[in-house]
Amino acid sequence: MRSLVILGAQWGDEGKGKMTDLLGAKCDVVVRYQGGNNAGHTIVVDGKKTVFHLIPSGILHDNCVSVIGHGVVVDPGAFVEELRYLEKSHAKKIDPSKLKVSSHCSVITAYNKILDAAREMGASTPIGTTVKGIGPAYEDKMARRALKLQDILNKGVLAKKLSSILEEKKILFNHLYQVDYPSLEEEVERLTALGTLIAPYLTNTFCFLHKMQDQGKKILYEGAQGILLDVDYGTYPYVTSSHTMLGGIYTGAGLPVRPFDEVLGVAKAYTTRVGYGPFPTELTDEEGEYLQCVGGEFGSTTGRKRRCGWVDLPLLRYAVRASGVTALGLTKLDVLSGIKILRVCYAYEYRGKQIKEAHPGIDFSKVKPVFREMKPFHDKFTFPSGNFNMSPELRSYIEAIEKACGIKVTVLSYGASRDKTTFLKEYFYP
Ligand code: GDP
Ligand code: IMO
Ligand code: MG
Repeated sequence: MRSLVILGAQWGDEGKGKMTDLLGAKCDVVVRYQGGNNAGHTIVVDGKKTVFHLIPSGILHDNCVSVIGHGVVVDPGAFVEELRYLEKSHAKKIDPSKLKVSSHCSVITAYNKILDAAREMGASTPIGTTVKGIGPAYEDKMARRALKLQDILNKGVLAKKLSSILEEKKILFNHLYQVDYPSLEEEVERLTALGTLIAPYLTNTFCFLHKMQDQGKKILYEGAQGILLDVDYGTYPYVTSSHTMLGGIYTGAGLPVRPFDEVLGVAKAYTTRVGYGPFPTELTDEEGEYLQCVGGEFGSTTGRKRRCGWVDLPLLRYAVRASGVTALGLTKLDVLSGIKILRVCYAYEYRGKQIKEAHPGIDFSKVKPVFREMKPFHDKFTFPSGNFNMSPELRSYIEAIEKACGIKVTVLSYGASRDKTTFLKEYFYP
């Protein structure tokens, strides 16, 4: 095995960080290729929690190089802050030979963040974004006027490009949203100072990754968000602004189309979502509250309460198909263990028909979930002999998911820490 993709198979926060940390220990390179610091990937090691936003979750392993590919939008301030946080909390210097950032990443400017916040505040139907400037930064990129990280290393280039960017945004800030914003000079000074700190990490990650691939190195691609937040495949317009599905790797890391050895879709044993947007299996009663409390479901980036609901098989099946997912990692099984009532949504009633798989363009606010009651399981997930034994009830829950998705569950997670994991398949064997 040489290449493994870890993708969120729902609306984000499935436990990708934990999987990346565990499997990063066995590989040479971990790559982030889309999104930005809207992500919040948590790992728990020896009881200590670390949340990654921009820097790949493999960075704590000395054996691997972490890469931020050009498809990621980078807030230079957030990058430097995260670097300092990691260095301080882990008493470890993060050497540029271990962390490589594409100089071609688009920059999230202060103006992008202000625009994100102003739109959310002023909108009659907000998206519930993380207000990190992600959408406006991708918008600038697609409009072919974004700053690239290499631009912030040269004050003259930066001032010229930023001036033309600000020219248009000023009109929105002054007239439409009536919000304050930093002057061109202030933003140039801020970004130039950050540029000096980032410069040692900037490189041509495209060539680096190709070299790694040609040398047969083990590469892990760490997706951010989840497939249902993809700008084309997700529950549009309640999505993020990048390609969270598999295709994001081709554009965002810049590697040619080669089959990946495994595309591991990470899914919670139930479903959560942060922000607005349709959520067919959402539980707005005490059952939802139970999942929220027992699961500790608070956003890792914004601290917002996550909405909770039953596992949604038509959506999971769709996510699997949309990204060519080849296996599933099922997390948070401990949260469901001991629950009194357990349901799975196995189909939707939609426009007079029963459908078992979602598709792009479906109006999720109009689907009616069809539930099947499952026998609750009470597994304790303690295996003194090292043998993983599961109850017949848990087995049938997992089999229902496998059957709907047509693929196997190869990783089981039943706690936040590294040891609360069982691999039913070996990854990155020598
Ligand atoms: P990510 O964005 O996909 O990396 O996921 P987050 O880190 O945002 O959210 C997942 C949360 O669940 C984090 O707090 C993890 O520490 C925690 N977690 C991961 N796997 C498990 C699990 O199997 N059981 C429990 N109880 N918590 C888990
Ligand atoms: P990880 O990588 C969960 C959601 C936001 C909002 C929508 C758009 O930790 O799984 P944005 O700021 O991206 O424009 O917000 O997307 N969102 C996430 N939800 N996990 C994430 O990342 C998310 N990143 C963005 O809550 O609904
Ligand atoms: Mg998260």
